[in-house]
Amino acid sequence: MSDNSLLVELTGITKRFPGVLALDSVDMNIVSGEVHGLVGENGAGKSTLIKILTGAYTHDEGKIIFDGKQLTQLTPSKAIELGIACIYQELDLIPHMTVVENIFLGRELYKTKGLKIIDRKRMLEETESLLKNLKLNFDPTKNTCDLGIGHRQMVEICKAVNSNAKLIIMDEPTSSLSEHETEELFEIIAQLKEKGVTVVYISHRLDEIKRICDRITVLRDGKKVADLNINDASIDNIIHLMVGRDIVNKYPKIKSNRGKEALSVQGLERKGILHNISFKAYTGEILGITGLVGAGRTEMARAIIGADPIDAGVVKIFGEEMNIRSPRDSIKAAIAFLPEDRRNQGLVLIKDVLFNVSLVKLKQYSHRGFLQLKNIHQDVDQLVSELKIRTPSVNTIVAELSGGNQQKVVIAKWLLTKARIFIFDEPTRGIDVGAKVEVYNLINELIKNDAAIIIISSEMDEVMEMADRIIVMHEGEIMGEFAHEEATQEKILYLASGIKISA
Ligand SMILES: Nc1ncnc2c1ncn2[C@@H]1O[C@H](COP(=O)(O)OP(=O)(O)OP(=O)(O)O)[C@@H](O)[C@H]1O
Ligand SMILES: [Mg+2]
Repeated sequence: MSDNSLLVELTGITKRFPGVLALDSVDMNIVSGEVHGLVGENGAGKSTLIKILTGAYTHDEGKIIFDGKQLTQLTPSKAIELGIACIYQELDLIPHMTVVENIFLGRELYKTKGLKIIDRKRMLEETESLLKNLKLNFDPTKNTCDLGIGHRQMVEICKAVNSNAKLIIMDEPTSSLSEHETEELFEIIAQLKEKGVTVVYISHRLDEIKRICDRITVLRDGKKVADLNINDASIDNIIHLMVGRDIVNKYPKIKSNRGKEALSVQGLERKGILHNISFKAYTGEILGITGLVGAGRTEMARAIIGADPIDAGVVKIFGEEMNIRSPRDSIKAAIAFLPEDRRNQGLVLIKDVLFNVSLVKLKQYSHRGFLQLKNIHQDVDQLVSELKIRTPSVNTIVAELSGGNQQKVVIAKWLLTKARIFIFDEPTRGIDVGAKVEVYNLINELIKNDAAIIIISSEMDEVMEMADRIIVMHEGEIMGEFAHEEATQEKILYLASGIKISA
């Protein structure tokens, strides 16, 4: 007999991939109507577990009971029929279809039953009212590939809400949302809960987990290590369960001395996007750039590295004026840029870890036209262990790694370059608490070796704790700058929302 209050009962779920025991007899119970958090380090098995519940993967052992019935031979379409919807970590919208088409994909509305003529008008109207209900305002007739990553995420959420699911699983939904959009999502979750929808919520942001979840399940190395009421655990307790030890210093900032002017940007303009951007970055220093999503931070970085054209502005590298027209030019100018949308811009998914990490630096490893494979192997091995990239070997294809471990591969790739200026766009997005510290430590190493670091981040704590100086942007303009000591959350938010403080 199964317990009525349980919507989902997973018992003894085991899943093996070649060389990896991803899940080792995991139990998870989800109570009807609750928000259930699923936490664990990168590669702990969270996404795999939910992919089993959505029929995307088949499990090797174990039992799934959903809504009182045991499910066997679950497929993705069967799961949707049963009312299980999932917003995957790697969004799966169709890029060249509109928001409306994506939301109604596979569930199109027809004018007449028999003739199967798609009722575009009604689909548009329903999408508009869905967006309005969720207090979202963007154009639903746009192709999803023309939306920012934050809005694409919102489209996924609309799609799930629209499917009238009983269970909505969100795999790191806020990793690319602004604080404002995150608040909107939390409101949506509260609305869903009121309607009796059950939510499974995966996140590395434990403050969010603490705030919105009723209960959590903690995974470590493919095993369930705990399930508890959220009120029975502090964030530090949760970290201890996830990592198996305490993390004393989440932001290991070191004291360093400002060195030479590495990058100088003056009067950078891009019509309608960037306005009169001027700032300097120095060696031995971390410059933080923050602002709300859409403030133009990524656009600014892309303009500097030559990925987007500029209308005016001077960029100097170590005092020398440079004409950077393409990312290739910027690599030559010793600039490394870690993009925020790493899956699309940073990785060749079907290639292995070794290839991806060494891609930008293949030349460095060539000697008289021959690749020095041994040297590549050594360097990549070292980074894999420093960043604790969970992979069976460096020859594993990147598509088989967990989301967070894919992120680490992109970071490793840029760390390996002999760049002097590093621009990291959301460097710790999707990365677990323990690995974050490793990323900061590696950034510290770069500073000690006289690099200039620019960190673009929406995570206020990260910028406030790690940066020596903080620049705040709003709608394509720099609103102001703070030294590490003078920055407070209030001051930053003030500038980020576009209010200029007069001197
Ligand atoms: N398709 C696959 N083929 C082979 N191995 C896989 C595949 N998918 C996942 N794995 C492995 O299973 C383990 C668990 O991965 P999973 O994606 O579930 O982790 P996760 O907890 O979601 O991590 P993250 O926080 O990084 O997203 C990892 O070691 C991963 O490399
Ligand atoms: Mg995952």
